[in-house]
Amino acid sequence: MTITLRAANDADYDPIIPCLDAWWGGQQMASMLPHLFFTHFRPWTYLAEDQGDILGFLAAFRSQTDPDLVSCHFIGVDPAARGRGVGAALYERLFADAAAAGCRKILAVTSPQNRASIAFHQRLGFEALPGPKFAAGVAFTPNYDGPGEDRARFARAVKGISGSAASGRN
Ligand SMILES: CC(C)(COP(=O)(O)OP(=O)(O)OC[C@H]1O[C@@H](n2cnc3c(N)ncnc32)[C@H](O)[C@@H]1OP(=O)(O)O)[C@@H](O)C(=O)NCCC(=O)NCCS
Repeated sequence: MTITLRAANDADYDPIIPCLDAWWGGQQMASMLPHLFFTHFRPWTYLAEDQGDILGFLAAFRSQTDPDLVSCHFIGVDPAARGRGVGAALYERLFADAAAAGCRKILAVTSPQNRASIAFHQRLGFEALPGPKFAAGVAFTPNYDGPGEDRARFARAVKGISGSAASGRN
């Protein structure tokens, strides 16, 4: 398998969106990834491909409120391609573009029940941000994204940019 990374474009939404629920283990996720991530946030949404076949994607954006921050909304890898560095490669591309743009911090959110996602983010150097509750030792905020939508929030400093990953504005 070869991993090729590129910025996503508008045409990439249609082939990716039908994969989403299956890639998230049958959860209804597609409605949480609006088309606009593929249209209005370039270059912060990326595709990983193997000779044109989609392996995964990362949908992020640079904060309009604080341009020091880049926030990852979703990252997903085809189950058949997991454990082979695709997710890490997508984040490395995001880190590189964030560093080049002078951004200081990358933010990410995930469900506190999503232990795989939490382990993955911690492995990539993300630290949990404070929250009022804990699940398996990781802080989370109940109802952060609406009723029943609890979120564990993570931050990671952009390499080469000084400052703590888990402190400051978020
Ligand atoms: C989380 C996800 C993106 C990881 O993608 P991936 O391509 O399998 O991850 P990688 O192979 O790049 O792994 C990078 C590191 O994270 C670790 N990691 C990945 N998945 C892990 C898991 N389930 N448990 C523990 N560690 C894990 C890997 O071991 C690797 O560490 P290493 O360098 O020491 O070997 C993928 O499992 C996925 O798409 N899950 C469903 C969607 C999801 O939950 N997205 C996150 C919330 S938006």
